[in-house]
Amino acid sequence: MLRFLTAGESHGEALVSILEGMPSGLKIDAGDINKDLKRRQEGYGRGARMQIESDQVKILSGLMKGETIGSPIAILIENKDFSMAELPAVKNPRPGHADMTGILKYGFKDARCVLERASARETAARVSIGAICKILLAEFNIDIFSRVLMIGGVKSEKLMKEKINEAAKSKNTLGGIFEVIIKGVPPGLGSYVHWDRRLDAAIGRALMSIPAVKAVEIGNAVECSAKPGSEVHDEIFYSKEKGIYRKTNNAGGVEGGISNGEDIITRGYMKPISTLMSGLNTIDIDTKKQVKASTERSDVCAVPAAGVVGEAVSSFVIARAFLEKFGGDSIAEVTRNYKGYIAGLKM
Ligand SMILES: Cc1cc2nc3c(=O)[nH]c(=O)nc-3n(C[C@H](O)[C@H](O)[C@H](O)COP(=O)(O)O)c2cc1C
Repeated sequence: MLRFLTAGESHGEALVSILEGMPSGLKIDAGDINKDLKRRQEGYGRGARMQIESDQVKILSGLMKGETIGSPIAILIENKDFSMAELPAVKNPRPGHADMTGILKYGFKDARCVLERASARETAARVSIGAICKILLAEFNIDIFSRVLMIGGVKSEKLMKEKINEAAKSKNTLGGIFEVIIKGVPPGLGSYVHWDRRLDAAIGRALMSIPAVKAVEIGNAVECSAKPGSEVHDEIFYSKEKGIYRKTNNAGGVEGGISNGEDIITRGYMKPISTLMSGLNTIDIDTKKQVKASTERSDVCAVPAAGVVGEAVSSFVIARAFLEKFGGDSIAEVTRNYKGYIAGLKM
């Protein structure tokens, strides 16, 4: 089974990740991974940290002459801003961040011990894992994109930028909605037979694991919840040229926990960033006096970046389900299994 772990603090020495279960024979170009890392760092509304870092991977293991050899792939991303030991203690936990819950859970007197790992800097590691999964999926013509649908309640690019400017000026922050579109997924990934094998559940969990994503939608679920079934379900048609096909995709490409061959379309709803330069009301954890929350260097809005992370976590889920269905120890074996299955579908 494809799996991964990440480690690393926001201002620690580096982020590291290990991806285990990739078949042998896949060509990996570090440049492709770095491209996605760069995309994660961009987007209107990002903070000064993203100007300091220029994330680059160092692949430490799992490759020979640029090709996977079936062993765990270890990836290192160095932090330029490696200043954790010198950074000040954080005594005024930020509402909406992990500061307060982390302090209570782990028994700290300093939210620095929490935020260093809770920070979304960790998502750079996940983007590197997702980028490798994308390379695998691209071998089978599966492509993943993301786009921003809404920021701060507005939908046009011009208005979104204006909203971000206003928010920055008034020391406020914004959230929004991103969409992830996955094209070329064959029917048959995931299963209805058990709750933890449902593809929609796995995608939902992955997107919800992105910091600040608080709701996930598959297909047009929100709009469809207010409509009768006759206007919602994607009717089934057949023609010799197209085979089985649909004219609509309200389901977002998953029925019964299984991909149905249509585009998989999901949306992540991100809450506003919780570090406000104006400082929300909170308490000093030592004195318990009412104070303003501490302010870290921070983004005003990170919805475009969250979309890139959404692509990465979705790529991992689809790659895992793909290898579960067509599994093999080498790309050649996976390809044989995949082609045999696709040929069977046409019969
Ligand atoms: C790409 C990305 C960048 C983020 N940047 C910031 C940031 O600069 N400042 C901040 O307070 N929160 C930021 N967040 C959100 C926090 O990481 C998140 O709110 C916090 O970890 C608490 O988790 P929760 O919101 O899921 O409860 C970012 C999230 C993402 C996905």
